[in-house]
This record gives sequence, structure tokens and C-alpha cells, in this order.
Amino acid sequence: METKAEIYSRVGKEIAAVIEGESSATARYASVACLLNLAFEDFFWTGFYIVDPLKPNELVVGPYQGTLGCLRIPFGRGVCGITAQKRETVIVDDVHAFPGHIACDSQTNSEIVVPVFNEVGELAAVLDVDSTKLKNFDIMDKAGLEAICENLLIGVKT
Ligand code: SME
Repeated sequence: METKAEIYSRVGKEIAAVIEGESSATARYASVACLLNLAFEDFFWTGFYIVDPLKPNELVVGPYQGTLGCLRIPFGRGVCGITAQKRETVIVDDVHAFPGHIACDSQTNSEIVVPVFNEVGELAAVLDVDSTKLKNFDIMDKAGLEAICENLLIGVKT
């Protein structure tokens, strides 16, 4: 059986190969959500919230795999909104103990949210991964997902 590190290594290469030369951020976000969701059984909701260009302090749902996600999240609210405000990865072992968590689906028990920056260092989106397991995410997920997000918008105008 593949270890978590091996899965991140494999899926990282798959993602790099699929998005290479693609100029659409949406196509890239959709491909990442799909490949990550296929790679990890424990990922229950996998997708992106995009910074709304018309409301720069608000996230709007982007490509994802999973059950229905809420459409909009203001900066500073919920795990995604806090990540957008802090511009750094947040891991929550138990979402029910996280003040202000936005429960789009009550089956979610833990989550990790990683910021995505564009080529000029502006926040473009956040990657949100939710699991039905408690404490599903650790520093290996942080490293694996941050590596994917770091390269995600290279060569793309957002
Ligand atoms: N978990 C998020 C909300 C989005 S969904 O769960 C799809 C949060 O608290 O930011």
C-alpha cells in the first residue's frame, strides 16, 4: 500500500503533467480538485474558494468535488475565511471545537485550508479539504498540499 508521502509524490507529478501549459485557472483548479479527491479516500470535500474580484474581501466557491458547498465566505469567517485573512495554512482537528466554523455539511469533522497565491504574490484562492474523520490532517498534508498550491498558478493570469 502506498504511504501518504508516496501518494503526494505521485499526485503532485500527475497534477504538474495535467496543468502544464494550461492558461485557465479554472481548468487548473478543477483538475487539482479531481485528482486529489481520487488520490485520497479520506478526502470528503476537496475544492477551491476563489477571491471574488468584485468583492476582494469575500471568497466565492470554485471547482470542487463533494457535497454541496456554501457559495460565499467572507474573509475572517470559518476556516476558509481565517486562512484567507492570515494568508497561511490552517489545520483543524475537530471542526466542532473551532469557533465560527461554517458547517456546509455536518459530516465534516476535520479540515485543512491552504492559501493559493498568484504570480505577483496576491491571494487568489484557498484550497479547502474536509474529512469525515477527526484529526485527518497533519504536517505531511500541509507540506504536500502547499507544494501543489505553490505551483498551481505559475503561468496563469488571475
Ligand atoms: N469548512 C469551511 C466551509 C466550506 S465547506 O465546508 C465546503 C469553513 O469553515 O471555512
